[in-house]
Amino acid sequence: MRIAVLGTGSVGQTMGNKLAALGHDVVIGTRDPDEAKARMTSDRDWVPPFGKWHQDHPDVAVATFSDAAADADLVVNATNGAGSIDALKAAGSEHLDGKTLIDISNPLDFSHGMPPSLFVSNTDSLAEQIQAALPGARVVKSLNTVTARVMVEPGSVGGGDHAMFVCGNHDDAKAEVTTILTDWFGWQDVIDLGDLTAARAMEMYLPLWLRLTGTVGPMFNVKVVR
Ligand SMILES: NC(=O)c1ccc[n+]([C@@H]2O[C@H](COP(=O)([O-])OP(=O)(O)OC[C@H]3O[C@@H](n4cnc5c(N)ncnc54)[C@H](OP(=O)(O)O)[C@@H]3O)[C@@H](O)[C@H]2O)c1
Repeated sequence: MRIAVLGTGSVGQTMGNKLAALGHDVVIGTRDPDEAKARMTSDRDWVPPFGKWHQDHPDVAVATFSDAAADADLVVNATNGAGSIDALKAAGSEHLDGKTLIDISNPLDFSHGMPPSLFVSNTDSLAEQIQAALPGARVVKSLNTVTARVMVEPGSVGGGDHAMFVCGNHDDAKAEVTTILTDWFGWQDVIDLGDLTAARAMEMYLPLWLRLTGTVGPMFNVKVVR
């Protein structure tokens, strides 16, 4: 499958690694491919600079958001929440119409310092704003509630017996993403929270996720005990 992963950060790199290792044809989308490939420093010491990461993964193509999305069968939004709608508009509605779009972004607002707040919440969500901006895309919110490594390697914490959520307005797209989560990544408990308004809850979990990360580190997840 040809997959566009929009985003050069920790999530884009981790998804790119995993999807390429599974044998998929992966293209990373960015604003300026030459600038991204030239990056040799990173402002996060746990995230390789993208240029270094790309040198280590020459099999993964790098393209503009638009070129990455153009021929993709599946699109992953791993861009900064504040820039996601701009990034997806740059990808082009004509390249997203009818395609499943896995939205991993979080609406984090760092403008008032740490910890970040949410720039949309309660009665709306970033995922709904993305769906409204790109009405032809089939947006499925998922994976935004765990750190990047856990997204593609749930067994890295607690043996993998914990929860991943999905929501969206397109049942066939949710079924496709659920299969990706279970069969490609190894998630054992995928919980369908319903339509895309459930993204409000998934995104509003972030303040708790951030506090937990500060307490136990990023390698954790929640389990829903019935
Ligand atoms: N890091 C995690 O473990 C984690 C876990 C759960 C969810 N998330 C969410 O996943 C997303 C990606 O996180 P990340 O840590 O990998 O990277 P990030 O630093 O949040 O985002 C990097 C990407 O965002 C793009 N971007 C930034 N501002 C933009 C703008 N104004 N217009 C267009 N694109 C813009 C960058 O484009 P360029 O390539 O052109 O610079 C880059 O590709 C975020 O929404 C984050 O909240 C992250």
